[in-house]
Amino acid sequence: MKTIRTVPDLRAALNGPRRAGRSIGLVPTMGALHEGHLSLIRRARAQCDQVVVTLFVNPTQFNDHQDLAAYPRDEARDAALAAEAGADVLFVPSPAEVYPRGFATTVTVDEISAPLEGAQRGPAHFAGVATVVTKLLNMAQPDVAFFGQKDAQQVAVIRRAVRDLDIPVRIEVGETIREPDGLALSSRNVRLPAADRHRALALRRGLDAVRACHAAGERDATILAAIGRAAMAELAVEPEYLELVDPDTFTEIHSVGDEPVLVAVAARVGDVRLIDNDILDAGR
Ligand code: PAF
Repeated sequence: MKTIRTVPDLRAALNGPRRAGRSIGLVPTMGALHEGHLSLIRRARAQCDQVVVTLFVNPTQFNDHQDLAAYPRDEARDAALAAEAGADVLFVPSPAEVYPRGFATTVTVDEISAPLEGAQRGPAHFAGVATVVTKLLNMAQPDVAFFGQKDAQQVAVIRRAVRDLDIPVRIEVGETIREPDGLALSSRNVRLPAADRHRALALRRGLDAVRACHAAGERDATILAAIGRAAMAELAVEPEYLELVDPDTFTEIHSVGDEPVLVAVAARVGDVRLIDNDILDAGR
C-alpha cells in the first residue's frame, strides 16, 4: 500500500489504472479505523481493482473545537489496518492540501441537512461533510464510494449532493457493525469511560424497544418514539433526539405505513456523543 499526500500524486497514481479500465473504489474516513471502516475497505476490495482509503480529519465538519482536538489520530496504526484490509492507496492530505489559501466554495444540501444531526451540530456540519466528500470524489474520481449506515443522514446528504451535482459515482452503504452486546462501533467509543460503557447501550435499547413495539402493531410515531425514550431512560440516558423519519428526505413521519422508516437516535453518554439508527420496514 502506498501513502500519498497530495492531489497531483493521487491523480498520477490513479491515472494508469483508470486508463487501463480498472475500477476505483474510494473509502473516505477520518481515521481511527475500526471494524466498521475495515468492513467497507474489504467490500471495496471485493468489488474494485484499486482501493483508495482517505484519512483526513475534516475540521470544517466539527462544530465543537474540543471534539476536533480530542479526535483520535494515529496514522501508523490506521495505515497498518487499511493495508491489511486490502487498500492499495492511503490518501492522507494536509488541511492546506484540502483547503488551500483563499478556499471559498461550500456545498450545502438544503432540507435534508437541517433536522436531527443538522439541528444538533449546526448548519456547518453537513456543509463541511458535503464539501469535503465532493472534493474527495473529485480528487480520486472513483467508480464507487463506500459509506457506513450508522451515519444515515450523512449518507442521505451525500447521495443528494451526488445526484444534484451529477457526480459520476455509485454510492454503496455498508451495514452498521456492532459490538457483541449491540453497541454500534464508533471512533468515539474509545473515549467512553468504563462506568459509561454499559449506559452507551441505551441507544440500541431504545431502537430495539421501538422495533418490538412496531412489531406488536403500533404505528403511531409519537407513541413509538416515547417507547424508545422510556427504554433509554432505564439506563439514565436522555436522547438529544429519537425520531422516526423518511430515510431519503429526513422529513418527520407521523404514522408508519408500508414504506421503510428510519428511527434515528443521538445521545450524550457522559462526555461522548453517540448516534445510531434502525430501519422499520414492513417487509422485515
Ligand atoms: O464519516 C466520516 O468519517 C466523515 O464524515 C467523512 C465521510 C470521511 C467526511 O469527512
